[in-house]
Amino acid sequence: MQCSWKAVLLLALASIAIQYTAIRTFTAKTFWLCSIPNRLNCSPVLDVELVDRVRDENPSLVSNVSRKTHILILATTRSGSSFVGQLFNQHFDIFYLFEPLYHVQYALIRKASQGGGITDRRIVLGAGRDLLRSLYDCDLYFLENYIKPQPVNHTTDKLFRRGASKALCSPPVCEALGPVDIHMEEGNCIKKCGTLNLTLATESCKDHEHVAIKTVRVPEVSDLRALVEDPRLNLKVIQLVRDPRGILASRSETFRDTYRLWRIWRATGRKPYNLDTSQIVAVCEDYLNSVSTGLNRPLWLKGKYMLVRYEDLARNPMKKTEEIYSFLGISMDSSIERWIENNTRADNTSVKHKYGTLRNSAATAENWRLTLSYDIVEFIQNTCQEVLAQLGYKTVNSPQDLKNLSFTLVEERSFSPFF
Ligand SMILES: *[C@@H]1O[C@H](CO)[C@@H](O)[C@H](O)[C@H]1NC(C)=O
Ligand SMILES: *[C@@H]1O[C@H](CO)[C@@H](O)[C@H](O)[C@H]1NC(C)=O
Ligand SMILES: *[C@@H]1O[C@H](CO)[C@@H](O)[C@H](O)[C@H]1NC(C)=O
Ligand SMILES: *[C@@H]1O[C@H](CO)[C@@H](O)[C@H](O)[C@H]1NC(C)=O
Ligand SMILES: *[C@@H]1O[C@H](CO)[C@@H](O)[C@H](O)[C@H]1NC(C)=O
Ligand SMILES: *[C@@H]1O[C@H](CO)[C@@H](O)[C@H](O)[C@H]1NC(C)=O
Repeated sequence: MQCSWKAVLLLALASIAIQYTAIRTFTAKTFWLCSIPNRLNCSPVLDVELVDRVRDENPSLVSNVSRKTHILILATTRSGSSFVGQLFNQHFDIFYLFEPLYHVQYALIRKASQGGGITDRRIVLGAGRDLLRSLYDCDLYFLENYIKPQPVNHTTDKLFRRGASKALCSPPVCEALGPVDIHMEEGNCIKKCGTLNLTLATESCKDHEHVAIKTVRVPEVSDLRALVEDPRLNLKVIQLVRDPRGILASRSETFRDTYRLWRIWRATGRKPYNLDTSQIVAVCEDYLNSVSTGLNRPLWLKGKYMLVRYEDLARNPMKKTEEIYSFLGISMDSSIERWIENNTRADNTSVKHKYGTLRNSAATAENWRLTLSYDIVEFIQNTCQEVLAQLGYKTVNSPQDLKNLSFTLVEERSFSPFF
């Protein structure tokens, strides 16, 4: 009987695949066989042994697959980060935390200003990096250093936006809500789940394949270099940007006190002499620094950085989400697709739209053109000229062009990640 080299190769490949699958299954099983209180002690040992054995036989195959991915959503306030966060929160294998750095800022800077002053953000940064490192390592106790009042017996009811994290509202952390209730309002979780047991939260984190954290409290991607290069982590940064003119319009509606003078400018047509422009200037500076860093493709960011424009996500949420998951090397599960469908339809009255930013998404992404006055737009265009060009946001030269929605100000650009 003839036996071609192709058949031999095929057989060899198949057997590797089977061995690999078997070992993966075995690994996963042993993980679950351990009872919860002991799991912390028993599973890593077995995992490491098995993974090492397989790695010796098939180095390229295992090393990549078996690693946890640490996802950081680097965003700014009102740039669509809640929506992007949900794209990870809804994933079965991802442990998601919504803005844990809030606690660092709150503990270190008493006067919590919306979005944070520039010096404030720098102070938060060093402590924030340490916290991120610990959280990616599923050490949730580390957060206790910053939560006020300090948690007792590793429990707290003061975790910021706990309800925004699916894992913290579902078993084993919270038994009060079944899988069916998980698409609930945040308040429901707070009401029904009671005090958060950080020991259980830590276990839940370890049970998940990946960890994702959203923050608006890291100014630019270079600030993350120490974490990106940390060999104990496998950090991937998704930087979410949005047209600063859109950010300003959205913040003026949401933070009515802080942005009061901007609304006075819009209403009266006269720029208040004491207008505080520092926050929007900071957005543009941070973007410029980050994007310049990213476009230079430094070695340390290779395969670790993806720039996502909110407007592209709004225009085609499914496609963009697929690209994001493909960059991460994680497969997208069907709950993500369903969630996107549920939350991006304009006319779907059957669901409550909490994440209104993407409701009727393509249409609302450029709605700021109807709400900001031309003077304000011109001011931002002058302030942010360079970064607008870099990100592919067109400027307008007249009030007519500003209000004429029949053409878009978002240029086609592909900011592909580099590997
Ligand atoms: C795994 O990663 C290594 C480098 O870290 C790479 O050379 C190899 O091709 C990867 N293997 C797979 C199957 O992706
Ligand atoms: C913390 O645990 C100890 C020992 O179980 C207990 O005596 C104490 O009352 C607990 N404290 C609080 C605030 O629950
Ligand atoms: C938190 O959960 C752990 C693990 O189940 C348990 O041992 C501990 O008693 C719980 N803590 C409190 C205060 O209930
Ligand atoms: C989508 O909406 C339907 C109808 O309200 C709901 O039953 C379902 O759980 C939602 N799915 C997701 C993934 O949010
Ligand atoms: C509303 O969402 C549900 C669940 O995704 C979907 O089945 C239904 O077709 C949608 N309705 C409309 C009018 O888009
Ligand atoms: C709006 O823009 C379109 C496309 O550039 C142009 O054809 C049209 O005349 C403009 N309308 C007004 C009112 O300026």
